Amino acid sequence: MSMLIVRSVAEIRAQIGHWRAAGDNIAVVPTMGALHEGHLSLVRAAKGRAKRVIVTLFVNPSQFNNAEDLARYPRDEAADSARLEAEHVDMLFAPDIAEMYPEGFATKVSVSRLSEGLCGAYRPGHFEGVATVVTKLLLQTQADSAFFGEKDYQQLSVIRRLARDLDIPVEIVGVPTVREADGLAMSSRNVRLSETARKQAPAMAEALRAAGAAIEAGQPVSSAVDAAKTTLLTAGYSQVEYLELRDAETLEPVSKLDRPARLLAAGWLDGVRLIDNIAVLPAH
Ligand code: PAF
Repeated sequence: MSMLIVRSVAEIRAQIGHWRAAGDNIAVVPTMGALHEGHLSLVRAAKGRAKRVIVTLFVNPSQFNNAEDLARYPRDEAADSARLEAEHVDMLFAPDIAEMYPEGFATKVSVSRLSEGLCGAYRPGHFEGVATVVTKLLLQTQADSAFFGEKDYQQLSVIRRLARDLDIPVEIVGVPTVREADGLAMSSRNVRLSETARKQAPAMAEALRAAGAAIEAGQPVSSAVDAAKTTLLTAGYSQVEYLELRDAETLEPVSKLDRPARLLAAGWLDGVRLIDNIAVLPAH
């Protein structure tokens, strides 16, 4: 059967009714399009878990704190749709702005603590925009499971929290970051890098890997983090917004590796904001 393309909540509800009546379970993969292998790994993980897979495609204006970033966000629904069809996705839900934010829309979902610091400190309102749209998508699709990349680790933590706090009956599944052969984390924004910057970009993955290994080997967190920041600036990054070790679950700062942690970074290269993170684990 070919993939259904649906644009309204009413249509999605009707289709879900048929699938539920047939006893099918449902997974959702929320995206903003510009699909790459990272997204397809989410789709494949979802297909391994559920009979029916819905991919959502909505470039959510409320999570962009920068109008230029929103205007420059890559969009190609026809190419995305062809990729998803090839993955045998059951439904593409691609609503327009009026369907998601009808006249008079006034509700915001805000997840305190986890949304503060890291990207939250540099992108005011971003996680409120993400939390609000993801809550809507989870309720619209009524999925049993929802798949998100670990590349956006803070986003994944915020979404896990909101699903728990709001008793949304969905399992939130985090999927490991997919990397290019040179280590660069896949991102829809990578296409904006110049040829030179594309060669410099993997320095972030490498700096995180080296710092994570040093911390796991017992080097003090602060010196490993400082060395990683210097590596990024030397490699050509113009700014490191943050490079920090945080508790893997609460995202509280970690100064000594005594529990599972995550080393997270954001930096600017060639006018493009890149983020990445890795697990850092204490020896048992
Ligand atoms: O990660 C993304 O692409 C977006 O933040 C999401 C989860 C689809 C919400 O708009």
